[in-house]
Amino acid sequence: MTATKGLEGIVAAASSISSIIDGVLTYRGYDIDELAEKASFEEVAYLLWHGKLPTRSELDALNAQLGEYAAVASDVIAGVRLYPKDTNSMAALRTVVSSLALYDPEAGDMSREANIRKAVKLQAQLPTVIAAFARIRQGQEPIAPKKGVGIAHNFLYMLTGEEPAEVAVQALDKALVLHADHELNASTFAARVTVATLSDIYSGVTSAIGALKGPLHGGANEAVMVMLDDIATVANVEPYIQNKLNNKEKIMGFGHRVYKNGDPRAKHLQMMSRQLGELNGDMRLYEMSVKIEDLVTGQKGLKPNVDFYSASCYTMLGIPRDLFTPIFAISRVSGWTAHILEQFEDNRLIRPRAEYVGPVNQRYVPIAQR
Ligand code: ACO
Repeated sequence: MTATKGLEGIVAAASSISSIIDGVLTYRGYDIDELAEKASFEEVAYLLWHGKLPTRSELDALNAQLGEYAAVASDVIAGVRLYPKDTNSMAALRTVVSSLALYDPEAGDMSREANIRKAVKLQAQLPTVIAAFARIRQGQEPIAPKKGVGIAHNFLYMLTGEEPAEVAVQALDKALVLHADHELNASTFAARVTVATLSDIYSGVTSAIGALKGPLHGGANEAVMVMLDDIATVANVEPYIQNKLNNKEKIMGFGHRVYKNGDPRAKHLQMMSRQLGELNGDMRLYEMSVKIEDLVTGQKGLKPNVDFYSASCYTMLGIPRDLFTPIFAISRVSGWTAHILEQFEDNRLIRPRAEYVGPVNQRYVPIAQR
């Protein structure tokens, strides 16, 4: 038995949800490039859960259900008020999502119908709890979700209390489409491992959030913004990045386990970053990002991943940087729950082996003689 570090190249599940073949990402067989241009996030969530694009009436029904479920139990919000003011946003999300289960009477119902409903509830409630957390820590009252608007619109509204500009809604909606699913990424794998024990969907999503938090996965988008804030000016890009490259430090937002010739999602976010810069009349973040890309790709051959340009996009949408990874979760919960439903359909416990590399033939020595 020989271990493969990081399970690189190991095929650990069969799935019909998304695929990465020859660098092309598809959801249920639809190219992400086409979905990013044409589909709303809610259509994509439906596609991931049900394996087909919704008809108009199916989409209307889903939107109505999302609206109905978006408000969370007041005790959940009361819990958020008790978190220390400097709580890490992903730690808060991990905790609050776990607590949602306590107030859902069907949390333990393992029927497919209940699990689909819980997927929709989680999708509806993540934006509400993230916006509530963001406001409470600033001493503001949470804003109740609106009915009749999409998830991107509702999230921006609940965050700021103001009606968001249409361009901001469209940009965030597209970012949500691009992040919705990604085959057997670390957080999705964590979700599948958890529910393969026949634990419940809330446990699976809580595990996934814990995995997404790390800077090698979803946490990279925030780390990119920390870097951009550190660099601050276009002129400072070259000395800053060169220094990191010389010291063999990782540049966040670059590289990928699967894509070696570039992440197909990155170009959409790059375009969005340029457009938002033009609209805001401030190209600084976009120009810094392009210059970083030139240097890192030029010298290391590494291409930007989904997290790189999303950092400048979210900042130009006025979103605080520690909410970037929670926003990733708002999108990816659609994929996580689709994978959880798929895992339940044909479940088998996920229990791989380890290659033992420790000492052998040890003999117990009584404590007084050690
Ligand atoms: N900056 C500099 N060098 C890098 C980077 C980077 N961002 N990424 C990889 N490398 C180098 C490594 O140092 C290593 O070099 P070496 O062989 O000389 O030691 C080589 O490329 C291979 O890198 P690994 O880390 O072994 O590749 P792995 O497939 O394990 O990791 C990962 C992929 C985690 C994405 C990595 O590229 C990375 O850490 N990137 C930065 C973090 C990041 O952006 N994560 C988000 C990924 S996308 C997502 O999860 C949504």
